[in-house]
Amino acid sequence: MLRITHMAQAAHIIRSGGIVAFPTETVYGLGANAFDGRAVKKIFKAKGRPSDNPLIVHIASMRQLKQVTCGNPQNTMSLIKKFWPGPLTLVMKKSKKIPHIVTAGLQTVAVRMPDHPVALRFIKASRVPIAAPSANISGKPSATNAKHVMHDFEGRIDAVIDGGQAKHGVESTVLDLTVHPAAILRPGAITKEQIERVIGSVTFARTGSVVKSPGMKYRHYAPLAKVVLCASLQEIQKRRRKKSAVIAGKKVAGVSFVFINERHLAKNLYHWFREADKKGCGSIFVQTVSENGLGATIMNRLRKAASFK
Ligand code: TXA
Ligand code: MG
Repeated sequence: MLRITHMAQAAHIIRSGGIVAFPTETVYGLGANAFDGRAVKKIFKAKGRPSDNPLIVHIASMRQLKQVTCGNPQNTMSLIKKFWPGPLTLVMKKSKKIPHIVTAGLQTVAVRMPDHPVALRFIKASRVPIAAPSANISGKPSATNAKHVMHDFEGRIDAVIDGGQAKHGVESTVLDLTVHPAAILRPGAITKEQIERVIGSVTFARTGSVVKSPGMKYRHYAPLAKVVLCASLQEIQKRRRKKSAVIAGKKVAGVSFVFINERHLAKNLYHWFREADKKGCGSIFVQTVSENGLGATIMNRLRKAASFK
């Protein structure tokens, strides 16, 4: 797999129907030309992603927003002014130019402008919007550096652009603007509180609303190791003793993540999951956090990672 050094190379691959992984401020994305249904199909195949789970379209200008959507619902401009470029994905009515495979047959499209200089340069050089899911094998923890991408996709995609470590480490917040009040379909790097300061009350879509956000019904973010959520440090210690899991040399039976601060936890969570798998850990004990602000996002990811076992 090619490690891109010149943006023109990446743009050439995109314009010839290839797939390029690229950095964003949240996690790495697996990108293709959003107007090219055949290229987008390759993404679903490489990830092993179910075809009913739509992709996010990444843009670098307001002109591209017009190309991919059809009219601006209420509150769009104030949210864009405040949060773009940034980790807020807006769900709006799609334009005819977006092939159905991108939106998994939905009449809406999820759009965001990433706050990462390399991502913006990449989209601009490609001269098309970039459809991209997170750059991980379906169901696994997302990739927060280029090495993670190589681990999952070596030999299966055309190239990766190495932009170092992702700043946030958790995905964007997905906000549905086609309903009133607007609904958070996936909590993310921008908090509910931040959004409400701009447009007033929004709701959290129930996790059961499969039709609205197909991605929510699938297993996500999960390492091979069993993720055990613990309310306190004492509980972690108790549970670990029970399992007689002691970190000793290479024979690591379990590993614990103890709360330091939310930003740090969000930034490193997926990396730590991946490291635990590399070491062959059987269990990962994680101290839970309170569900305010970024805590709501972290708990969403932890619950999903801990379920389906
Ligand atoms: O931070 C991020 O959002 C990263 C970076 C690469 O931008 N991308 C990402 O993509 O996390 P992905 O594919 O892993 O998650 C996209 C989420 C899924 O839950 C999907 O169901 C939802 O967005 N989604 C996409 N289009 C939608 C639509 N039209 N209506 C409702 N949900 C949609
Ligand atoms: Mg994902």
